[in-house]
Order: sequence, then C-alpha cells, then structure tokens
Amino acid sequence: MQNEWSPTSWRQCPAEQQPDWPDEEQVSTVLKEISDLPPLVFAGEARTLREQLAEVCNGKALLLQAGDCAESFDALSADAIRDNLKVILQMAVALTYSTGLPVVKVGRIAGQFAKPRSSPTETQDDLELPSFRGHIVNDPDFSAGSREANPRRLLQAYHQSASTLNLLRAFTRGGFANLAQVHSWNQEFVANSPAGEHYREIADGITNALAFMKACGVTPVNSSALNEVDFYTSHEALLLGYEEALTRIDSTSGKWYDCSAHMLWIGERTRQINGAHLEFLRGVENPLGCKIGLTATPNDVVKICEVLNPESIPGRLTLISRFGAGNVEESLPPIVDAVTSAGHPVVWACDPMHGNTFTSSSGHKTRHLDDVLAELGQFFSIHQSLGTWAGGIHVELTGGNVTECLGGADKVSDDDLHLRYETMCDPRLNASQSLELAFLVAEQLRQV
Ligand code: PEP
Ligand code: CO
Repeated sequence: MQNEWSPTSWRQCPAEQQPDWPDEEQVSTVLKEISDLPPLVFAGEARTLREQLAEVCNGKALLLQAGDCAESFDALSADAIRDNLKVILQMAVALTYSTGLPVVKVGRIAGQFAKPRSSPTETQDDLELPSFRGHIVNDPDFSAGSREANPRRLLQAYHQSASTLNLLRAFTRGGFANLAQVHSWNQEFVANSPAGEHYREIADGITNALAFMKACGVTPVNSSALNEVDFYTSHEALLLGYEEALTRIDSTSGKWYDCSAHMLWIGERTRQINGAHLEFLRGVENPLGCKIGLTATPNDVVKICEVLNPESIPGRLTLISRFGAGNVEESLPPIVDAVTSAGHPVVWACDPMHGNTFTSSSGHKTRHLDDVLAELGQFFSIHQSLGTWAGGIHVELTGGNVTECLGGADKVSDDDLHLRYETMCDPRLNASQSLELAFLVAEQLRQV
C-alpha cells in the first residue's frame, strides 16, 4: 500500500478482474472522454448518505441495498426501472413500519454493469472464449466477436447510468414514491399473493397509521416526507479505469469523490489488502462496502477496516457478509468479535444471495428462497447474541415476474426456472419473493 494517494495510485498495485482490452490506447481515449463528462452524482449527496449510514451504524436505522445482479444494455426501459424502484420502496415501507426505524434505500442500479468472474475464460464444445464480464465490457453471446472487450461500452455504461439516474430522480421526487401509493401496492400484494394473508396484520397496521396521520393533518401536500424519498445508487467498483475517470475534487470540501455512484463496494474477489481496489477506494470519500465471504479471516477484515476507514468514521464502511446458510454460524461470529475488539464502527449487512448459489438439476444457476431467508435469520440472531446491530440487507432482485430463484409462496420449482429465466448473470428474487422476504424480516425484527 502506498502512502500518497491519488486517483491513479491504484495503477501501481495488482488489479484483479480487469478485462483484457485489445487496444489500450483506445481505452485511454474513451476514459479521457468520460473524464470530461459531467459527474453522475454530487459529492454532497454521497456525504448525506454517509451521515444516514452512520445512523445505521449506531442502531438507529436500517440499510436496504437491492437491485440487479448485472444491469443490461438491452433491457433498459422506463418500466423496468420503475418496477425495480417500486419493489424496493414497498420492502422499505414494510421494514420501516415494523421496526419504527428509517430505512436507507440504496439501489444496485445506474452503474451496476461490471461482473467479476470465477474463470477468465469459458469453454463450450472445445471453443474457449473470454468470459462475459458485464455489458460494460462485452456481450454474453458465445461468439468471439461478442466476447471481445470493447472500450466503447464504457461510454455506453456512463450514458445508461445517466438516463437511469435521471428517471430515478424524477420518480423519487415527482410523486411516484407517495407513501399512500406505495402502501396501496403492498395491499395489492397482501390481497393477491398466497403468502399475503399472513402479512395482513402488518398491512392493516400501516393503513391505520396512515389514517391517523391524515386525521392529524399530516398530508402529502404539507409534508414532503410523505411524497418524496431519498434513493441512492451503488455498484461494485470493479473497473478502476472507469471509476478513476469519474473521480473529481469536490469544490465544497476539497476532497475526492468517485462521482459514478453514491456508494461503491468491493467484491469478494477483489478485496486483497495490497490490491488495486482497496488502494483506489481508500482515497475517495464516498461510503464504501466490502463483501466478506468464506476465505476472509478475522485478521483480513480488521485490516480492511484499517485501510478503508482509518479515522473510524461511522457510516464510511459497510461490511457485507455472504457466507451461505450452512456456514454463517461458524464464520460470522469470529469476524464480528475481531472487528468489535479492534473498535471499528461498521454497518453490518448481510448478502444472503451469493453464498447460496447452486446449479439445479435442470442446469440453471439458482438460489432457494428458504436458504436466503435462513442466512438472513441467522445473521440477525448472531448479531443479537453478540450485541451488535444487524443493520443491513443486500439482495439481488428485480421488479419483474421472473423465475430465477426457487421457492416462495408461488412455489417456483426447478421445472419452472426456464419459463422466465432472464438474468444475464446471477438469479434474482422476483417481486413477490422480494416482498415475502421483506415482510418476513419485518415480522422477525418486530420480535427482536
Ligand atoms: C455481486 O454482488 O454481484 C457479487 C459478484 O458478489 P460477491 O463479490 O460477493 O461474489
Ligand atoms: Co451477483
């Protein structure tokens, strides 16, 4: 690790998971072009998110981070963005009501394009080609031309992020996020889902609370909190050239911010202590996440905290554990103990998706909702017994009616997976599975 940080200092460190660009000069030209374009988010927004995450860190709020595994250039549409936002807002209302706590809403959206891969190549019928690394790099179609890394895609990712963010800002400020409206969607879910009846009590409670507020004169007209929500963006900061090109000095604070998203996270495959990803992210002021999986030792995690949050600022760092339902009870407690003893303030979040992936007999990469819920449940009870605040949930979902994960009230089975298996990468919870998860967690947290 170098002492002097600059937006380019990561270039002296080993960088995992970077594409094999065929023409480095073309990459530099595109990155120069991006560095001349406007920032996607403002430093002040990232600062506000950091303050809200400090509340999560202190046990006074929850974090819901959710969205696509990988956004697609082909699936960009207003309806898809609306549906993803809608399900996240619905989940947040259920959680807020049950816990009485604000829910900080962060999408895996408007920049979640780059994917780390377990293997750099993929072989089909004796043909070996580079792996698909997300639409910001190449195309999943299995042909040499599609799999070649194309730097023009960096620019397309920037523009798609800008138009997605533009619509999100309109939706969250323009009345779509009206609390009564979001609640009416939840009432629809309760009325129509086979699991819905179970959640009627929570839904009825929200109906009464809204009626009470209305009777007291709190309405969307005189209270913007009923009409608007804060919604933040995040993605895995994987392609460091792209992140560097969007890193700017904030004129208010004089500090560096990566203006590609409000929050950035480091993946399980790129969190090496002396690696380029930690080096780059330690120097930007945005709130950061780091995935923590089975290969992380307690000592590694403490070092990650030291590098990414040397001043121990609450809200700066979220540790996102993703061990799998069968491993979390053994793997999480020693890490929590080590971080607590070292005195690092972190937001503890759980990604119950990535440790529970398997290939089903029909050949689909999938996850079972039962495993997802089991890991989350264990995460909450482990933290409760250790006296730490289990503040965050990180999930891959879509507002669409896909069949990618097994289980749920609609009992998606292995035979159903092919019906609407649309993800480009990992299997996502569909809208109804996501709401089931939120209502179930809401119920559990109410009892805590
Ligand atoms: C992801 O969040 O999409 C991902 C690849 O996660 P992880 O780095 O935890 O495997
Ligand atoms: Co994923």
